[in-house]
Amino acid sequence: MSGGCACCFCLLCNTFLCFTLAFFTFCYILTSDEPKFSITDASLTQFNFTNTDNSTLHYNLALNITIRNSNKMVGIYYRRIQVIANYRQKTFAMVNLTSAPFYQGHKNTTTLHAVFEGQQLAVFGESNISQLNSDTAASIYSIDLQLALQVRARYFSFKTAEYSSSKIDCKLQVPLSLNETSPSGFNVTMCGNVHILTDRGD
Ligand SMILES: *[C@@H]1O[C@H](CO)[C@@H](O)[C@H](O)[C@H]1NC(C)=O
Ligand SMILES: *[C@@H]1O[C@H](CO)[C@@H](O)[C@H](O)[C@H]1NC(C)=O
Ligand SMILES: *[C@@H]1O[C@H](CO)[C@@H](O)[C@H](O)[C@H]1NC(C)=O
Ligand SMILES: *[C@@H]1O[C@H](CO)[C@@H](O)[C@H](O)[C@H]1NC(C)=O
Ligand SMILES: *[C@@H]1O[C@H](CO)[C@@H](O)[C@H](O)[C@H]1NC(C)=O
Ligand SMILES: *[C@@H]1O[C@H](CO)[C@@H](O)[C@H](O)[C@H]1NC(C)=O
Ligand SMILES: *[C@@H]1O[C@H](CO)[C@@H](O)[C@H](O)[C@H]1NC(C)=O
Ligand SMILES: *[C@@H]1O[C@H](CO)[C@@H](O)[C@H](O)[C@H]1NC(C)=O
Repeated sequence: MSGGCACCFCLLCNTFLCFTLAFFTFCYILTSDEPKFSITDASLTQFNFTNTDNSTLHYNLALNITIRNSNKMVGIYYRRIQVIANYRQKTFAMVNLTSAPFYQGHKNTTTLHAVFEGQQLAVFGESNISQLNSDTAASIYSIDLQLALQVRARYFSFKTAEYSSSKIDCKLQVPLSLNETSPSGFNVTMCGNVHILTDRGD
């Protein structure tokens, strides 16, 4: 009699364990498949720094940013996308993409355009100046982008509140192309630090 009861209890425990495991696996599947961000094209037609008078950086950079949501269950509302352009840890330009807000469903790919054009007062230290000079000699500049997103995630019919995710990093090597019509020789670059679904950032 008591043996039967113990068995019954055992079965209950196992069932419970199975459900918990299944639940966590399900949650894992929902959140582990982050969208993929890549810079599919970049065209840099001006990047000159004048040290005489005021230290000014003149820049003209156009980008194609591709976002692929391969998650089968989660859709993402991009409420705001801010793209921050840095050179040698110095932010020289920021834009808010006008294509946001938009919704990206499952298994969808979206290409966004960002253009940075203008000038910025910039102070670079000695070593950064010499790095800039060698980049200029090679005609390839190391430009780091950060993408700051405000999003809402959609799980089936449930939508989360709006939140900011941690910043996405894209480390680019952009060749200077003075001739806008010829291909620039930019290599497609994947972005890192994508934690939109797993880490709600700040
Ligand atoms: C981006 O994509 C468009 C087509 O969607 C293309 O015309 C353009 O040359 C691409 N590159 C840049 C840097 O904008
Ligand atoms: C930067 O370079 C472009 C093209 O090479 C030129 O038109 C522009 O006048 C330059 N700007 C400065 C401030 O030197
Ligand atoms: C440098 O900055 C000062 C003050 O902002 C401005 O009056 C001057 O015209 C600038 N010089 C150049 C060459 O842009
Ligand atoms: C861009 O978005 C940020 C917040 O994401 C906001 O603080 C900033 O004012 C916006 N800039 C412009 C020019 O709209
Ligand atoms: C991707 O999303 C766009 C805009 O919402 C839509 O027009 C397009 O049909 C979608 N593509 C796929 C394959 O679902
Ligand atoms: C370049 O400048 C940034 C600040 O703008 C500084 O943090 C960094 O250490 C500098 N790098 C070098 C190599 O001097
Ligand atoms: C730009 O490149 C194209 C094709 O390579 C060439 O036909 C054109 O003459 C070039 N333009 C200039 C201004 O160099
Ligand atoms: C693109 O990739 C090729 C092959 O890896 C490399 O030789 C070339 O320098 C890269 N170009 C840039 C601009 O990084």
